[in-house]
Amino acid sequence: MTSTARSFSHRGIAFGCDYNPEQWTPDVWDEDIALMTEAGVDLVAVNIFGWSHIEPRSGEFDFARLDEIIRLLHAAGIRINLGTATASPPAWLTRRYPEILPMAEDGTRRYQGGRQAWCPSSPLFRDAALRLVEAVARRYGDHPAVELWHVSNELGCHNALCYCDVSADSFRFWLHRRYGTLEALNTAWGTAFWSQTYSEWDEILPPRATLSSRNPAQSLDFHRFSSDELLGYYRAETEVIRRFSDKPVTTNFMVTAHIENMDYWSWAADMDVIANDHYLDGRLADSTAELAFAADLSRGLSGGAPWILMEHSTGAVNWQPLNLAKAPGQLLRNSLTHVARGADGVCFFQWRASLQGSEKFHSAMLPHAGTDTDLWREVVELGGIVERLEEVAGTRVEAHAALVFSWESWWATQTESRPSQAVGYLDQVHAAYGALHAAGITVDVVAPGADLSDYRLVVVPGLHLLRAAEAAVLTDWIAAGGIALVTYYSGTVDEQDRVWAGGYTGPLREALGIRVEEFAPVAPGETLTLTDGSSATLWSERSRVTTAAVAASFADGPSQGRPAITRNAWGDGEAWYAATHLAPDAYRSLIERLADAADVRPAAPATGADGALEVVRRRGSDTSYLFVVNHGSAAASVQASGTELITGMPVAGVAQVPGGAVRIVREELVA
Ligand code: GAL
Repeated sequence: MTSTARSFSHRGIAFGCDYNPEQWTPDVWDEDIALMTEAGVDLVAVNIFGWSHIEPRSGEFDFARLDEIIRLLHAAGIRINLGTATASPPAWLTRRYPEILPMAEDGTRRYQGGRQAWCPSSPLFRDAALRLVEAVARRYGDHPAVELWHVSNELGCHNALCYCDVSADSFRFWLHRRYGTLEALNTAWGTAFWSQTYSEWDEILPPRATLSSRNPAQSLDFHRFSSDELLGYYRAETEVIRRFSDKPVTTNFMVTAHIENMDYWSWAADMDVIANDHYLDGRLADSTAELAFAADLSRGLSGGAPWILMEHSTGAVNWQPLNLAKAPGQLLRNSLTHVARGADGVCFFQWRASLQGSEKFHSAMLPHAGTDTDLWREVVELGGIVERLEEVAGTRVEAHAALVFSWESWWATQTESRPSQAVGYLDQVHAAYGALHAAGITVDVVAPGADLSDYRLVVVPGLHLLRAAEAAVLTDWIAAGGIALVTYYSGTVDEQDRVWAGGYTGPLREALGIRVEEFAPVAPGETLTLTDGSSATLWSERSRVTTAAVAASFADGPSQGRPAITRNAWGDGEAWYAATHLAPDAYRSLIERLADAADVRPAAPATGADGALEVVRRRGSDTSYLFVVNHGSAAASVQASGTELITGMPVAGVAQVPGGAVRIVREELVA
């Protein structure tokens, strides 16, 4: 069941924040509103963690403070993104019903005192939460300032996988619906292995901690179940809201590094507008490219339509081992990169930096040091620029290349016993995306099996779990003239994590024109050399070509002499395969070669700031906008003509983009 979509309509690009006024005394609120107005804030999320404030005791509601906050925001013309307040249960609830508390895989409970301490399958939690949602929706459902509903908060951020008895029951119910019979389940999970055959449904458990590695098919289904369970919860809240309000409903996704538990491809259709939270992760090799990837994936979830950046940070976060401050200008570059890649909203966690609580060292729009700060001045500058981009809202990003991404493959790749613990799914995706990004190619991120007819180049990194039907979409598209690059470990298992026999890459084998006989991973830190002089790491394969031509072989390592990069003519197209983890420069060269063959070019020719420049085009019905983000310190120039929206200056032929700057050119008729 999916909800009936309502469209999110905001004037221009939304500029906003989470606002948690309950952390402050009322004398601060007037100043907050005045400063929001100064900064150009026009969309504010409230009541996200409001439960214990608006229902301080079971069934006793007190909306006085929220009424006042909403009144103040409305009077200032600020639109409201209204939280349902269910993100974090109050202490009275978990004290009365401790069985609501989630259970970790080792059987230990997670207690009150942090946030999100609830089991996604708990009927007791759901009853209490829906009663609250009803009270909130009844009160504010037709309030003129409410522009959007914000269900819970980052569903599954901490509590996605719960292993308690209630979850176990719900898991069994889900499995029964999926398989119908125990025989079918036993076959799907391969329970003949290690004497795991089930003869009663009640014998089945969530994949709790075991002595040895767990059944990987069971773990895979538990991931699917857990994602579905939270989506079911989202739907339950949405149904209550719908009884009182016709405003659009969403929740904030976490398309960001390391969060893997929700299969957002299956959630997206339920959102009236896709909203994403993104935080730079200083632990990544290239967090700038990861930001671009997350933005492109958010747009993919939105089917190409604009989406909202619901949270990001003005500066450091507080939850990484080392929390990096943003460099001067980085706030602007990060924010406008999201806009370049399809965001029609730029919002932050949070408005005013907390003085207390776990997030007191998290940056905010208004820092502890107040308004006489560089950070505040950058926030105000950004607000002014966002306002000038009103005409960009609603336009769509232009891309002729796609990258296939799958949460199911992520889960299947990460199972406990595998060829190399050093090979992770997201690393492969980031490496592929990083090569496209460095080559300046704009990509759409799509689900396996998605229609590829809009694209000329498709990259498929490490798509470990692959259904025959999904493979057929890809190989048919290649046969019709497409150029695809598939990388190692793809097509290894089917939907049930059962190995595709007869040579790895399974249902892609024929189109790729190779047979992979054996995996031969290499230790992290070791470098492989290929016959074309490029280097690679982590992985090699012992394969033989059937019909493919060898573009490069392994010159050393455990697969010496075997093909490393191959190209197979398939119908009117070309199926390329990389059997190793190419070093970034080699990956980029390969992508550039393929993009050239596919006639896929950067959005506009550019010189200078090599690798540090992002150039992306958003296109409307009668005009287009060229976004140029210069992450480097050297100046760059980009071919463009029209009017630059940040400076208001005309651009005739070439836009100069100083180091660290962003330029957005409204283009004169680009065909
Ligand atoms: C998000 C969350 C916010 C805040 C933020 C800090 O996960 O939705 O409430 O905690 O992270 O980075």
